[in-house]
Amino acid sequence: MSVNTKLYEGKAKIIYRTDNPEVFLADFKDDATAFNAQKRGSIQGKGIINCTISSKLFQQLAAHGIPNHFIDSPAPHQMLVKAVKIVPLEVVVRNIAAGSLCQQTGLPLGQILSKPLVEFYYKNDQLGDPLLTRDRLLLLELATEEQVDRITHLALQINDFLKTFWQECGITLVDFKLEFGVDSQQQLLLADEISPDTCRLWDNSETDPNRRVMDKDRFRRDLGNIENAYQEVLQRVLTVVEKN
Ligand code: C5P
Repeated sequence: MSVNTKLYEGKAKIIYRTDNPEVFLADFKDDATAFNAQKRGSIQGKGIINCTISSKLFQQLAAHGIPNHFIDSPAPHQMLVKAVKIVPLEVVVRNIAAGSLCQQTGLPLGQILSKPLVEFYYKNDQLGDPLLTRDRLLLLELATEEQVDRITHLALQINDFLKTFWQECGITLVDFKLEFGVDSQQQLLLADEISPDTCRLWDNSETDPNRRVMDKDRFRRDLGNIENAYQEVLQRVLTVVEKN
């Protein structure tokens, strides 16, 4: 399969068309951004780490009946994926209060939520990815009612699977972001990536609120040791996948 034109360059990935119109190639970069790209940097080895973790998680999710875009990983930092049109929503699932939920509601960091919270943000850099209500996203026709219901159902199923998976890694899944896309048969598929860039992951063996952070908050909050934390997450994922 040969790679054709660049379709899209995001903050962490480049998506290429291939000679098969049903298949795209995602190339994971080491570049890191935060706060809507106001903070920029690079995390050495991140592209390979995030591609490998995402590939493993997508394969596990497919085996558990969650339809997703993963096809193959032809190189450690590359993923062949089913061609989809991305639904312009960032779907965030939260189990524990952190980040913007604390900032916007005053909930204390670390408060366990009585049930998982599913939120929708408008994937729009110019507007700063604002939080949407269901009515607003329907008003903007970002998805149909049927798609919103299906996305919510899938997001909660994915949360159930991931919470257990990360616990097996000795990690608490605080929250994470998902993206969905629609393929040529109008099938809704989980897309994008699941990695320490898109999840908040706390090490169960650490109680210190800074030392326990194993995700992109190390970059956002200048906590240092980012590469080591990402490497450690990768090693634990590989160990659990091999065991299963
Ligand atoms: O910043 P906030 O608390 O809303 O982030 C919730 C979750 O979504 C975090 O795990 C964060 O890493 C992820 N996220 C993301 N991409 C964004 C915004 C948030 O992966 N653009």
